Amino acid sequence: MPREILVTSALPYANGAIHLGHIVEHVQSDLWVRAMRMAGHKVHYVCADDAHGTSIMLRAEHEGIMPQALIEGVWKQHTADLSDFGVRYDHYSTTDSAANRELTYQIWRALEKNGHVESRPVKQLFDPERQMFLPDRFIKGECPVCHSKDQYGDACEACGSTYNPMDLIEPYSVVSGAKPVERESRHFFVKLADFEVLLKSWLEERRAAGGLQSEVVNKLQEWFADGLRSWDVSRDAPYFGFEIPDQPGKYFYVWVDAPIGYLAAFKELCESKRGGLTPLDFERFTRVDADDTELVHFIGKDIIYFHTLFWPAMLHGAGLRMPTAVNVHGFLTVDGAKMSKSRGTFVNARTYLDHLDADYLRYYLASMLGPTLADIDLDLKAFEERVNSHLVGKWVNIASRCAGFVHKHFDGKLAEELPAAERARYAAAAEKLAACAALYESRDYAAAMRTIIEVADEANAYVAEHAPWVLAKDQSRRDELHVVLTLALNYFRLLTIWLTPVVPATAVRALAFLGDAPDRFDAALMPLLGHAIEPFQPLATRIDPKQVAAMIEASKESLQVSSNPSPPILPVEGEGPKARASASPGPESRVPDPGSSGPGVRVPGPDVISIDDFAKLDLRIARVDVCEFVEGSDKLLRFELDAGELGRRQIFSGIKAAYPEPSELVGRNVVFIANLAPRKMRFGLSEGMILSAGIGGNSLFLLDVDPGATPGMPVK
Ligand code: MSP
Ligand code: ZN
Repeated sequence: MPREILVTSALPYANGAIHLGHIVEHVQSDLWVRAMRMAGHKVHYVCADDAHGTSIMLRAEHEGIMPQALIEGVWKQHTADLSDFGVRYDHYSTTDSAANRELTYQIWRALEKNGHVESRPVKQLFDPERQMFLPDRFIKGECPVCHSKDQYGDACEACGSTYNPMDLIEPYSVVSGAKPVERESRHFFVKLADFEVLLKSWLEERRAAGGLQSEVVNKLQEWFADGLRSWDVSRDAPYFGFEIPDQPGKYFYVWVDAPIGYLAAFKELCESKRGGLTPLDFERFTRVDADDTELVHFIGKDIIYFHTLFWPAMLHGAGLRMPTAVNVHGFLTVDGAKMSKSRGTFVNARTYLDHLDADYLRYYLASMLGPTLADIDLDLKAFEERVNSHLVGKWVNIASRCAGFVHKHFDGKLAEELPAAERARYAAAAEKLAACAALYESRDYAAAMRTIIEVADEANAYVAEHAPWVLAKDQSRRDELHVVLTLALNYFRLLTIWLTPVVPATAVRALAFLGDAPDRFDAALMPLLGHAIEPFQPLATRIDPKQVAAMIEASKESLQVSSNPSPPILPVEGEGPKARASASPGPESRVPDPGSSGPGVRVPGPDVISIDDFAKLDLRIARVDVCEFVEGSDKLLRFELDAGELGRRQIFSGIKAAYPEPSELVGRNVVFIANLAPRKMRFGLSEGMILSAGIGGNSLFLLDVDPGATPGMPVK
């Protein structure tokens, strides 16, 4: 029976590049979607950028742009990277969308109406300089246990202890450097206890149906022991997110609107199909009694609680259907260790693509992925050997060894039929491979790859045994030769069909060579006979170890280059053991190790540049003629500068927090970049960038120049 399934991957944060850890997840889900479609099911596949939260707000502020401009730029990179990895979403949205705001409000109002919301005051550390509450990861200080310096507010990286940020010795805010003070504020909570009975039975029911892994359910059951605590879902301004209806200055915590973003992205997809040939009905997937459709999430093991406790509770509390499946995978390691910037093993998707073919990594990951939470190791040597041996040596080679003879002796055509023995061989191989459909469906890709390679070995043994290159020398054995080539190329086609979800781009080229384009696994049941094939073009080349070495080298470099526009430290909200824990219902000691580092990492100073690099900057002195507040912006000041020979310039600068009295700046000199591409902002055109020292927020200091300098003078 064909099924209809909505599939999602976790929404990547919009403040960092897609890296190979993310690729594990997107490839796992894309491969599943492709395989389910080839098995005849109808699948809708969506994702989005997770665009809200403190990190994104501060990064945008630091870059002097609106958060909207930041997330738009990141969206373009993310979608290009994923698409170049062969990941084909039907729609890739952002959580900062009108559809998501509407759906978030709708769900919130329903939760309120059904009595699942409460509010009470909460004590939290506050940055008195930057005037904001600090998430745990934005506070650092000395570890109260081992006395290591500069540890995060939730856990010590040196000794592994977790603690309260208030327990740090000499704590400081990573935003301003100020000493945080304790402050009280009213927060909103979702009463998870209301859902305890429901969640328990949902977990067991999903486990029985195969929608949740046993490992996951067992882990979750521990949380129920002490009863579920209420979940804190509000954050105070300043925050980049959706304001809570009727609660000015209170925002939804990013983890509220992030999963709702799955449904909002799907809703946009439905809207885009309205009135078309294949309309899609949103309600069929979301109403509480939906039973002819499925909702399937793919996530990493660090965000289990959000998807198996908070998210189903929110859905149910708002009268919507709960997920059919939450498929959890482990973390990517490289050469047996956590990805590391200094070793060059923290590889961005784009850096990989600059050196190697996407299908190679897709194949390697498939050969490693099973339906468990085990971590997946990218062993660089094994990667190279497996791609060269399996993809090039065992698969593509079948075609490259046989194609020439078909063109030379048979006018590029396959035999019209096969003798009984060859037909039986083909049928046996087709039947063996048919088992891969179930292996793909159960996400046991490693077992599917083993099956495929076994059949490839049989095919190569057949070719070696019948040696077409020997037969070809004997004019009297042409028919025999034709049969051998035809079966060999049909083996190749069979393998290609079953490899299509894994190496889609290479498979399309391989099938085009056969003059074929099947989109269903069952096309493999019958061999291709009497068919004209195209001249053979190389489909895949061996990996040269130099390519891998160059990728690692470039990853070391990109760490340094990319440090440029970033503030010195940008943790990710909700990252790290305790940050995840504080949003979770249970005791801290039970928080799982989140595994690898997320996109929020410390970045060292910029790389060395040449004098030519510096010469590209046109730095100039200017005098401030006008400086004023910008209506509708709480970050920006508008400057009009006298830049001497360059004329007048308008520049918007995100330094309002540091200069609350703009009129005091009029008449002074500043240094600015005159040849920066002008940027269109919501408030007008910004023609350059004014330089200041400091880390952002109210800790910014404009540069000045000694007396004697005049507007327009170059700075060299
Ligand atoms: N924005 C949240 C998810 C919100 S979903 C409603 C988030 N973003 S993330 O960018 O940090 O991670 C996105 C996904 O990538 C998560 O499922 C995470 O587990 C996965 N991975 C991040 N690093 C990874 C590895 N090193 N290895 C495998 N998966 C990894 O969490
Ligand atoms: Zn410590």
